[in-house]
Amino acid sequence: TAVDPFDLVIFGGTGDLARRKILPALYRRFCAGQFREGARIIGAARADLGTRGYRAFVAEALREAAAEEAGDAAALDAFLATLDYVSLDARGDRGWPELAAKLTEDRVRACFFSVGPSLFAPLAERLRRHGIVTDRTRIVVEKPFGHDLDSARALNATLAAHFHERQIFRIDHYLGKETVQNLMAVRFGNMLFEPLWNSLFVDHVQITVAEAVGVRGRGEYYDRAGAMRDMVQNHLMQLLCLIAMEPPSKFDPDAVRDEKLKVIRALDPVQPHHIVRGQYVAAPGRDEPGYREEVGNPRSTTETYVALKVGISNWRWAGTPIYLRTGKRLVARSSVINVVFKHAPHSIFGEDAGQHANILSIRLQPNEGITLQVTIKEPGPGGIRLIDVPLDMTFAEALGPEGAHHPDAYERLVVDVLRGNQTLFMRGDEVEAAWAWTDPIIEGWESRGDVPKPYEVGSTGPTDAELLMRRDNRRWLGIRP
Ligand code: BG6
Repeated sequence: TAVDPFDLVIFGGTGDLARRKILPALYRRFCAGQFREGARIIGAARADLGTRGYRAFVAEALREAAAEEAGDAAALDAFLATLDYVSLDARGDRGWPELAAKLTEDRVRACFFSVGPSLFAPLAERLRRHGIVTDRTRIVVEKPFGHDLDSARALNATLAAHFHERQIFRIDHYLGKETVQNLMAVRFGNMLFEPLWNSLFVDHVQITVAEAVGVRGRGEYYDRAGAMRDMVQNHLMQLLCLIAMEPPSKFDPDAVRDEKLKVIRALDPVQPHHIVRGQYVAAPGRDEPGYREEVGNPRSTTETYVALKVGISNWRWAGTPIYLRTGKRLVARSSVINVVFKHAPHSIFGEDAGQHANILSIRLQPNEGITLQVTIKEPGPGGIRLIDVPLDMTFAEALGPEGAHHPDAYERLVVDVLRGNQTLFMRGDEVEAAWAWTDPIIEGWESRGDVPKPYEVGSTGPTDAELLMRRDNRRWLGIRP
């Protein structure tokens, strides 16, 4: 169903995120008929573009993002007609009265802070000062939400000075991914899995977010962040929470976020020998540069890969480790969660018990779907020989082409902001708890002068990551090319 008319302001309206994600997502939702007559989108940035200039900019952005095919020429024109533009200074007062004058009374005002975190405070103050904050005003902030616990706390305090928590939407775009939401549907919509979803039956869990890309022009930010801050503190942590949390009593924002928070608070501190850091280096015969060349910092000790073993101290999970790994410039783009069940306790077929295990694989991207590996009899007239085969539910096959079309995470999240639904957004205390767990790990590296292990571009990561598993008599399940 369509959302009521709204005013949506994109601060940083000419920036990279607006161009690549927010505007294409808005256009796709517009074409899907989700906006009612009168919806307005206002770009705000420093440049003196004018509304015509901004419309041209957005048309180009949609072309670049290949979002155009979502609608025809008439749809594109109608969308561009919803756009307006204000040139303003985030740190001054120029442009703000003009912005205030453009807004309509008594409707949802969604303000996207698509800018660096250093501008969050100035923007929040000016919104307030120019009378733009109403009860129906919402702000949307992007990562990085802080650099560590202290800075995240300071950011939360700044925002809290101007907005209620229910007005603050902190994006972690992994929560907008279709299969990530499906993870909750599978866990809590079926009887089959939940009774086994604990340390009695689950041997361990592997969460892999492998990327083939490098740092893509964001070297300056990335070199100060590294994989731990860029990926683990937020995206992998969210996946871990959804895997490990207790069933919330209902699918409502605070019920879900309370349960996630309990998981983060139950995480054990990570032992230094349970973490492997890596940094990619050029591989013979391949064109891609190593990380240090790519960011132009020959001495960088920033990690572009991290693998770690995490323990959760609660009744459900004590004794069942969760292994996380993520890295850039790996062999393939592949994000998958594998829940590896324990072996059957005894084999009546004379094989060694322990040869087979059920594995529930939840593939986030690409090729979204869920596979359950089960053990069956190998076909044939001989005795019983066991083999493992996948019970595969590739969404494209099960649901047809419509089901295979996954809206981009931002499409879902933008609509949730307009509807005021915070379930898929991080609450302030959740972000702080995640930093509180991450900080000591990073401080440990810094105080020890840790240098990441090199791994070749196009590989599966540093060999030490294999050892991390082998020490526990386990192995990583492959990164699918
Ligand atoms: C971002 C990180 O949050 O997520 C990037 O800052 C990363 O470094 C990206 O590449 C991955 O997102 P996706 O949706 O491509 O898996």
